Amino acid sequence: MERSLISGIAHSDHPIAAPVSAANLDKLLRRTRLREGARILDLGCGEAMWTLRALELFPGSTADGVDISAGALAAAAKDAEARGLGERIRLHEMGAAEFRAAEPYDLVLCVGSTHAFDGLTPSLRAIGQLVRPDGLVLVGEGYWETPPSPELEAEIGTYPDLAGLVAQAEEPGYRTVYAHTSSLGEWDEYEWSWTGSLIRWATDNPGADGDAALAAALEHRDMWLKGYRGKLGFVTLLLRRAS
Ligand SMILES: C[S@@+](CC[C@H](N)C(=O)[O-])C[C@H]1O[C@@H](n2cnc3c(N)ncnc32)[C@H](O)[C@@H]1O
Repeated sequence: MERSLISGIAHSDHPIAAPVSAANLDKLLRRTRLREGARILDLGCGEAMWTLRALELFPGSTADGVDISAGALAAAAKDAEARGLGERIRLHEMGAAEFRAAEPYDLVLCVGSTHAFDGLTPSLRAIGQLVRPDGLVLVGEGYWETPPSPELEAEIGTYPDLAGLVAQAEEPGYRTVYAHTSSLGEWDEYEWSWTGSLIRWATDNPGADGDAALAAALEHRDMWLKGYRGKLGFVTLLLRRAS
């Protein structure tokens, strides 16, 4: 079973592909206070939940969404049409690092997608070429709440602590003007939805695909419950370029 199909099912009940609630997504977007007609770019947009909401909140704004997943972009296009936003968003199926634009953006998002640039620092350097000098960046990234064991770090990844992450984000020339640190409740909602949607689908679809979906869900759930639950944090930083 293709990984993208598994991911599509896993995100069906929590289409924000990050441990962030819809209410906190709204709070972060409202804090951008974008101007009328603002230009928005979402790198690794997935189903474009962040950007479609931004288009609803900021009249006259337009957006570009970039992702390598055809399935996620198809879901984004369908949702955009249903919400009457189809004319205001262009979706690009390509690697985020290859995206170029003639004009800079008021807001660039990269939430849970810095791997598209091989990490936070290269992401923020690349975004620096795409955002206006007075523009904003919303970047969502993991950090360790408590130092991981070597085994856990090898399995999940190398991240700094929260203070280290903020310092790393600011180093390429940004200032943190707001942020949201995801709560354990937001993580649990995300993970129970991710694993639960797959387990439900597997139960409804017996056979080879169902077995593969169940195995993926249980492997992920073990990694979470026996590994990173309560240890891995996620923060979404609202950054302003330092002039
Ligand atoms: C964790 S999801 C985050 C999606 C979205 N930002 C959100 O918060 O709902 C990561 C996304 O990055 C995309 N992605 C992975 N590698 C990429 C690349 N090289 N260029 C663009 N997108 C990429 C994946 O397809 C996926 O949709």
